[in-house]
Amino acid sequence: MLRTLVCAMAMTVASLAGDPARAADLPHIVILATGGTIAGAADPRSGLGYNAGAISADALIASVPGISAHARLSAEQISAIGSQDMSEEVWLKLAARIDALDKTADVAGIVITHGTDTLEETALFLDLATRTDKPVVLVGAMRPATAVSADGPRNLLEAVMVAASPQARGRGALVVLNDTIHGARDVTKTDTVSVQTFRSPNFGPVGGVSPDRVVFYAAPASRQSFPSKGGPLPQVEIVYAYAGVDARPVEAARAAGARGIVLAGVGDGNASKATIAALQAAAKAGVVVVRSSRTGAGPVLRNIELNDDELGFVAAAFYNPAKARVLLQLLLANGVTAPDKVQAAFLPTP
Ligand code: SIN
Repeated sequence: MLRTLVCAMAMTVASLAGDPARAADLPHIVILATGGTIAGAADPRSGLGYNAGAISADALIASVPGISAHARLSAEQISAIGSQDMSEEVWLKLAARIDALDKTADVAGIVITHGTDTLEETALFLDLATRTDKPVVLVGAMRPATAVSADGPRNLLEAVMVAASPQARGRGALVVLNDTIHGARDVTKTDTVSVQTFRSPNFGPVGGVSPDRVVFYAAPASRQSFPSKGGPLPQVEIVYAYAGVDARPVEAARAAGARGIVLAGVGDGNASKATIAALQAAAKAGVVVVRSSRTGAGPVLRNIELNDDELGFVAAAFYNPAKARVLLQLLLANGVTAPDKVQAAFLPTP
């Protein structure tokens, strides 16, 4: 909502139309490929069932007509996995590569091809763990590259256009799919099959892309920086609340060695009495407990349905459970464990 207010005042338009520039004058964009449906091969008649990451980054680029009019491209294969298997190792590799490309004068921006399932988590991780002002744009597709009306080629073209846009600098990690640009903090996957699956439920998208231009209508969000310290990242588990849940999921997370627990709570980040009591015991024992909501939109704020001050909990504000986990991992990696300090990172004061 804050962003929407700022939007109207901060409309910037970067027209990409005009005389074709000489190739050598075009910005150099590096594509880091990780796999996912965007690189998936399937029976073109069905689009169902496919091997994620089967198509190389170079082949993906070659499948996009006109892409070389926007940038000089080079591609690196970081992994070839479905993003359900996305791992801390790949995150750390991506972060290290982004840090190196930040120092490479010839590189103007970075595009990361990624499966859509955990794309929002990788986007937030890179947003928090890297510091570059160069555009970092994550892109995926809902249909495999071999499907009828595959969405990947257009999404990739638009991601390259955004990464090549000077207007995209200093905005942290961005996500581009289906003509829409989202910020890393708010974006989330909302539909299992639709090409319009990514939405920013709290603040709205930050911009849009059409065949001839990139448009930003939100001011750059303020950023926080919590480097990964090279990993391994501290263990943080998510406990899902549901009708009838007892203390066992919290106890299992503690027994597995969790240093942090994120509650994917009902409604305003709440859960059964048994779960809350188990979380309170965990917080007393030094486990950082963050209350988030499974509803998909809206904030979880302190001391509304639960007394966070008494319970020793942190309220996740606008971070959904999967993203709250990423932020908490990075906070713990940076030695931020006191609930008030953790709270300040979840809801920074302007
Ligand atoms: C994945 O996340 O790798 C599979 C689904 C997708 O990319 O859309």
